[in-house]
Amino acid sequence: MTLQKDAGRPLIVVSNREPYLHVHRPDGTIAVVATTGGVAVALDALMRERGGTWIAHGAGNADAEVVDSHGRVAVPPKEPSYTLRRIWLSQEEEKRYYNGFANEGLWPLSHIVHVRPRFRSEDWDAYQQVNAKFARAVSEELPTGQSSVFIQDYHLALVAADLRRLQPEVRTAFFWHIPWPHPDRLRMCPWRVDIMKGLLANDLLAFQLERDRRNFLLGVRDELDAEVDGGTILSGGRLTRVIAAPIGVDFDRIQKVASDPGLEQEVARLFREERLDDPGIEVIGVGVDRLDYTKGILERLDAIDRLLTNRPDLRSKLAFVQVGVPSRSKIRSYADIEARIDARIGEINSKYGNGPDDGPIRYRKSALTLRRLVALYRLADFCVVSSLHDGMNLVAKEFVAAREDLGGVLVLSEMTGAAQELTDALLINPYHIDGFARALERAIDMPTEERARRMWALRRTVAGRDVFRWAPDILDHLEDLEDADTIVSPWRAGRRGTRLVKRLSGGASNVGS
Ligand code: F6P
Repeated sequence: MTLQKDAGRPLIVVSNREPYLHVHRPDGTIAVVATTGGVAVALDALMRERGGTWIAHGAGNADAEVVDSHGRVAVPPKEPSYTLRRIWLSQEEEKRYYNGFANEGLWPLSHIVHVRPRFRSEDWDAYQQVNAKFARAVSEELPTGQSSVFIQDYHLALVAADLRRLQPEVRTAFFWHIPWPHPDRLRMCPWRVDIMKGLLANDLLAFQLERDRRNFLLGVRDELDAEVDGGTILSGGRLTRVIAAPIGVDFDRIQKVASDPGLEQEVARLFREERLDDPGIEVIGVGVDRLDYTKGILERLDAIDRLLTNRPDLRSKLAFVQVGVPSRSKIRSYADIEARIDARIGEINSKYGNGPDDGPIRYRKSALTLRRLVALYRLADFCVVSSLHDGMNLVAKEFVAAREDLGGVLVLSEMTGAAQELTDALLINPYHIDGFARALERAIDMPTEERARRMWALRRTVAGRDVFRWAPDILDHLEDLEDADTIVSPWRAGRRGTRLVKRLSGGASNVGS
């Protein structure tokens, strides 16, 4: 079944990760699992509201059994409001495109985390092929008439260029969710020009921060034969508007879960399961991350260790719940960080408690449902986000959205995109363990009035820029561009192109630019 709320202007979202997976239960029945990452939750909110089609890799082991002959299934399962179109990838394609080029190449290239990017020609070939496959699916899903295509993230940098060969008139916007590297770092990528040209096949290209947008424009100036005028680029006879538009969370949905009277039961269950009701426990901290080397989890554990060394009185009072969601585990750098985190937690628990599994760190190595996650945020005295580099980090914003009681302190790395907006958090440098440990101490000892004042200010910021403000910043821009002539024939690109660049950049109201 295909569903569209607004038949005139359906939205097509394209991403690697799907919002819902179908998986086999041991009893042979099929379960639907919602993807819990911040980005998937945010885009799902947008699609529930707007309707249309979301195209993504079908990764669940029962995904193929529930779709129609075109790979389509209506979602969300309980209240279908849009169509999920699944793309099938072979094991080899997944290995080379997803694990290889996207996550061993582009991911470490874009994050400053001292992990060496790996670029292999076979991975790049697979990346190109899979991007072309996504483009063909978009072309099949495009309804007659105009519609907006909204492509997500570093897995799919070439989709717009491939799509344009099939559907020259299509209008596309692209959001790069992670940091964009400085040109000096970008130069490590042998195919940087192809990637940038692929991105410039979009009508609108959006980054999280002004810093990312600036790095991209610098890269274009260095590497491409393109005209850059303010936030508009003329390249290969096409104009692309480049903006910064930081992503937000579905604030109302999180707040609704947080204010549900039934949540108390969930909180009580977590207290029991994590032994937070042990006699003597007075302070609870939380951290929620994918097990990724960018998240600064080892640095966080070092800071907790330092804190407990400096403050012996906290040894029997503090419990820290660390949720670690295994991620990209087939990649060695991910398997390594997971093993190092496991070992470090065991070490700290043995040092201050009764053994590797029985100490101040309560380690939960699985994803939580949204309800559980919100319950965890609500029982915390403080939440730690300590990324070494992060495009945005939606855990920080989710924590704030869940705290309508104005309790809880957010300890936030200044290396996250979120730190640019959430200046009322306690900002830390994860590379400075003493300073980090002192910030944890300050969070624990913070007077109630100061907590409330800071949380109130944070909530104003997060509510004021939720996912429903973020999406229109991009999609309204795209739709505005439809009135402008953004395709310039190559032989006229010189004079006329320059005029158009001037006209468009003069009239632009770029967010954050
Ligand atoms: O932040 C980048 C991103 O790709 C997000 O879109 C997503 O939430 C997260 O990483 C999860 O990654 P993966 O899809 O590899 O599990």
